[in-house]
Amino acid sequence: MSRWLLSYRGYDPEAEGVREALCTLGNGYFATRGAQPEATADGFHYPGTYIAGCYDRLASTVVGRTVVNEDLVNAPNWLPLTVRVENGPWLGPAVLSSSSSLLSYRQELDLRRGVLTRLLRFADEAGRVTRMAQRRLVSMDDPHVAALETTIVAENWSGRLEIRSALDGRVTNAGVDRYRLLNGAHLVPASEGGHQSETVWLTCRTATSDVGIAVAARTRVDAADKRTAHEERGWIAHDLVVEAAEGVAITVEKVAALYTSRDRAVEEPGEAARTHTDRATGFDELLERHTLAWGRLWRRCQLGVDREDVQRVLNLHMFHLLQTVSEHTVDLDVGVPARGLHGEAYRGHVFWDELFVLPFLTLRFPEIARSLLLYRSRRLPEARWAAREAGHRGAMYPWQSGGDGREETQRLHLNPRSGRWLPDHSHLQRHVGLAIAHNVWRFYEATGDAEFLAEYGAEMLLEIARFFADLATYNRTLDRYEIRGVMGPDEYHDGYPDRDEPGLDNNAYTNVMAAWVLCRALDVLALLPGDRRDELRERLGLTREEITRLEDVSRKMRVVFHDGVISQFEGYANLEELDWEGYRHRYGDIRRLDRILEAEGDSPNRYKASKQADVLMLFHLLSREEIDTILARLGHTPAPDLINRTTAYYLPRTCHGSTLSSLVHAWLMARVDGEDAWRLFMDSLNSDIGDSRHGTTAEGIHLGAMAGTVNLVQRCYAGISTQGTVLHIDPRLPAGVGEVRLGLRYRGHWGIDVSVRHDRLRVALNPGVAFPIEVACGGETAVIEPGGSWETPLLDGRPAA
Ligand code: BGC
Repeated sequence: MSRWLLSYRGYDPEAEGVREALCTLGNGYFATRGAQPEATADGFHYPGTYIAGCYDRLASTVVGRTVVNEDLVNAPNWLPLTVRVENGPWLGPAVLSSSSSLLSYRQELDLRRGVLTRLLRFADEAGRVTRMAQRRLVSMDDPHVAALETTIVAENWSGRLEIRSALDGRVTNAGVDRYRLLNGAHLVPASEGGHQSETVWLTCRTATSDVGIAVAARTRVDAADKRTAHEERGWIAHDLVVEAAEGVAITVEKVAALYTSRDRAVEEPGEAARTHTDRATGFDELLERHTLAWGRLWRRCQLGVDREDVQRVLNLHMFHLLQTVSEHTVDLDVGVPARGLHGEAYRGHVFWDELFVLPFLTLRFPEIARSLLLYRSRRLPEARWAAREAGHRGAMYPWQSGGDGREETQRLHLNPRSGRWLPDHSHLQRHVGLAIAHNVWRFYEATGDAEFLAEYGAEMLLEIARFFADLATYNRTLDRYEIRGVMGPDEYHDGYPDRDEPGLDNNAYTNVMAAWVLCRALDVLALLPGDRRDELRERLGLTREEITRLEDVSRKMRVVFHDGVISQFEGYANLEELDWEGYRHRYGDIRRLDRILEAEGDSPNRYKASKQADVLMLFHLLSREEIDTILARLGHTPAPDLINRTTAYYLPRTCHGSTLSSLVHAWLMARVDGEDAWRLFMDSLNSDIGDSRHGTTAEGIHLGAMAGTVNLVQRCYAGISTQGTVLHIDPRLPAGVGEVRLGLRYRGHWGIDVSVRHDRLRVALNPGVAFPIEVACGGETAVIEPGGSWETPLLDGRPAA
C-alpha cells in the first residue's frame, strides 16, 4: 500500500458513487467527480462538475408547499468520451458490467500528482480485444483547465475505431436521492458550436442567478474523419474516426476550459473558454505544470505520522481539502462547502465546518484562510439585516450560507425511513456566528495579522458579540443572562417534548462560547490602535453603555449543571435515558437515531441521546486554561475533573450521527483513554474512505471530518496551539503512532519543524526564519533562534512535567 495511492481493482457499479466522490479532481476553482468519461447519470454513475461559489435558486413544490432552495450548480460535463469498435456498442456501463466483455479494470488516484488513471481491457462478440489507458487532471496550475488523455490499443484487430468526445450541458442537479422531488434544472442552454477541426463549445446560464457558464473542449487525435455532432440543445460532440492498426497505440487528447461570467479579466466566458483551449499546450506539458503546482502545495503540507495506513488517509484528506479550497480560491468569493466540490449533499452550502478546516490552513496557507474569512466578512451586511429582522442588534450569521449570505437552511426535510417530510428547525443553530468569531480570533493569534483584524476581523467579532449580548435576556431572580430558543450543535434536539415552539434554553455550548466571544470582542477593542477603535465604534454606533452590557453578559451568562457535569441545555437532566442496548440490538446501526425514532412516532427530544458532541465541543475548541478562565469569570469553580467527567457522561449518550462526532470524541478521549481514543480516531479516518455513513460519501465527501482528522494530528497529538504570542506544544501522542512531524508557518515565519516522539519533542527553525520564536511545552519555555533547535524530554508522548 502506498501512502500516495488510492487504487481500485475491478468494476462495480454499486461502488461507483463512492469512488466518484473519492476520485474527484479539483483545484479550488472547480472540481469534477471521478466518474467514467462514458457514463451519464443513471442511478449508479453521477458525473458532476461544480464551480466554487456558483449557486442558483429554484422553487419546488413538496407535499403541497412551495419551497425554495439554493444549490451549488452542477455545471456542464466536460468529460464525455467514448469509443466503439467496428460499429459495435459504444463503450459504456453495459460493456463494463458484462463479465464477457470486460477483461480487466483498474483505477488509481495518485494523490501526490493529482492524476486519476484508469486501465481497462474489453472485448467484443467477435473476440476483438481493445486496451485503454486514461489519465485525467484538473489543473492545479491553471484553474480553468482540465484534461483527459486516452491511449487505445487494438490488441488483436485492425479496423474502424470511432471516438465521440462531447460536452453535455443537459445535466441537472440530481445527485441526491432525497432531493429528487426538488427542482434541479439550473442550467439554461444558450449556445453550442464547433470547429470541424478540433474544438467544440457550449454556453449556458444559470436559471435565476444568471451566471454565464462556458466550456470548450479541444480533442486531438490523428483521425481520418472528423465531424461535429449537434443533436440537441445543450449537447455537442466531435465524432472522430480512426483506422486502428493492430498493436499500434492511438492517443486521444481532450483539453477543456471552463469559465463563468463572474471571472475576472474576462470579457465573455464563451470566448475566454475557446481562446483558452486554443492556446492550451498538450497533455504532457499540462501534466508537468500541474505536477509542479501540486509539489509546491505538498511542500507546505508537511504533516507526517510513521504509519503508512494512517498517512495514506491523512494524505487523501489533505488532498481533498486542497482541491476544495486552494490558492485559486484566494481571488474568489467563496466559503467552505461542507461536502467539498464533490457532490450535491447539503447543496454545496457552507455551515460551521470551517471551524475544522481553518486551523490546518492558517498554519500553512494563511492567505487561503484569510480569503475564507473574507467570505464571511462580505456577508456581514446580510447577517446584520437578519439580526435586525429578528429584532436584534449586531450580526446573525445563517446556519447554512451560500451565494449572498442569507439563511439557506431548508424548512422541510425528508425522513427516507418514514417517507415523511418534516419541519426542519436547524436554522436555530445560532452558534454558527460564534464559530466565525472564534475563527477570526484564532486566525489573528496564529498569524499576528493585525491589519486583517483592524480592517475586517474586529468588525465581524464585535457585531457577532453584540448579537449574542442582545439575544441574551436578563433573569433578575438568578442575576444571570439566558439565551432561549436556540439549537446547539447536537441536531437531534430541536425542542422540548412538552413545548410547541422549537428551540432549547441555555444550551451550554452556545452560552459559554458567547461569553468567550464577548471577552475576545473586549480584547479586540483594547488591541486596536486608538484611532481605528474610535472610527469603528463610531461606525457601529457602539456606545459605552453597550460595551458595559457586553462586559456584564460575559460575566453572567447562565450555565446549567447536573450530576457534576455541564448540562447540554436547561432541562436536559429531566430527559429519559434511551435504551441504547435495545436500539442497537433492534437496528444495528443507530447513527441516524433521529430517523429511527421519528419513524416509530417518537422523537430524540425525549431522550438523553445526542447526534454529536455538543457541550464537549467547548473542550475541543478551548484549551483547559481557557475553559477554567471562562467558567471562573462566570462565577463557577470547576472541579479538576469536570472535563473528564463531562466527557465520560456524554460519550455513551452519543450515537455519532455526524462524521464530526467521532473526531471530536477521539480528541477528548486522547486525554483519558488511549484505546477508546484510537478507535474513535480510526473511525473518523474511515468516514469517507470506508463510507461509514452508508452511502453518504457518494453524495460528497465530509470535508469537516477530513480536515478535522488532520487537525487532530496537529492540535491534539502534536498539541500545537497558538494562544497569545507563544507557540504552545502540549503533545498527547497515542501509542499507535511512533512519531508525528509537522512543518509550520507561524506568525509570518516559514520553516518551523516540529517532531514529537514518545520520548522527546524537538522544534527546529530554518535559518531563513526572520525572528526568534518562543515555544512552551509542559511548563518549560524556550526562545529558539533562527537556524536553532530545542529538545525537551517527553514521557509516553506527553510533557514530562
Ligand atoms: C452536522 C453539522 C455539520 C453539517 C455539515 C451535519 O450533519 O450535524 O454539525 O455542520 O452536517 O457538515
